[in-house]
Amino acid sequence: MLIDESRLHIAIQKSGRLADHSRGLLRDAGLRIQNGRNDLTARIENFPADLMFVRDDDIPTFVSDGVCEFGIVGENVLQESALDEREARFEIVARLGFGRCSLRIAAPEEAVYSGPDSLAGARIATSYPRLLRHFLDTHGIQADIVKMRGAVELAPRLGIAGFICDLVSTGATLEANRLRAVETVLDSEAVLVRTTRPGPEDKAELGTRLLSRIDGVLATRDSKYIMLNATGESLKQITAILPGAEAPTIVPLHGRPGHFAVHAVCQESVFWETLQRLKEAGASAILVVPIEKMML
Ligand code: PRP
Ligand code: ZN
Repeated sequence: MLIDESRLHIAIQKSGRLADHSRGLLRDAGLRIQNGRNDLTARIENFPADLMFVRDDDIPTFVSDGVCEFGIVGENVLQESALDEREARFEIVARLGFGRCSLRIAAPEEAVYSGPDSLAGARIATSYPRLLRHFLDTHGIQADIVKMRGAVELAPRLGIAGFICDLVSTGATLEANRLRAVETVLDSEAVLVRTTRPGPEDKAELGTRLLSRIDGVLATRDSKYIMLNATGESLKQITAILPGAEAPTIVPLHGRPGHFAVHAVCQESVFWETLQRLKEAGASAILVVPIEKMML
């Protein structure tokens, strides 16, 4: 594969839990991904960048080596690789809010567990040996780490290890294998990483442009425009509840003295519970609408 040196290269997961969201994010940033026959790379039609579809575990290496200027990868994979100092020539430039999961230590359901000390002298199977070692060291615990590439959840049943340390997202895998999580080693989500290897200036410029587009998408993703009516005496309480809203617009309602319309951009998710609280505080006619584009 020949690499076009004038273009940016972005490594994303080929398939798996982050793949669709990664493409979606780039699409939302206005990048048109060409549907080619090549399943290793794809050209962006309207931005000088190419995508590379790789295994998530390879993304830190690609970005570290500067083969790709950017990568989208789970923090779990990234931090595991960052603990190997030779590899860590990258920096996290954005947290992406998808692919949330936790790296957790789990034990058979019936096992007695009374805190990290219960891990002393145990065998723990994992595909994240460095993160696990770091956790154990932090707690001053000596235990054997059994490295496995996959199917870690089978280890206790096979008698290979007493505990496992693996990713948990919905918890279905643990449940199906009659395991329960006992410790959290790392909370993870997808992140955008950039190489810290110096490159040509025009590429750095392209990188900045890409980054500001992605920042724009992230800023609008959770943001909502919220409108509601309120009485004068409830205004203070209501504006305090509005999530992440700065300086809401408050205008008197025509023909209803003492009543106001409140409009605000909320830069955090607006949940049903929030609406319930607003209502209890005296808000009515609450409308929440998505924001399509925003430039801060
Ligand atoms: C992880 C992990 C578990 C599963 C947990 O594997 O190894 O098997 O996800 O998810 P759950 O809590 O929703 O059941 P993943 O699919 O990420 O594959 P990989 O780590 O082998 O790439
Ligand atoms: Zn993987």
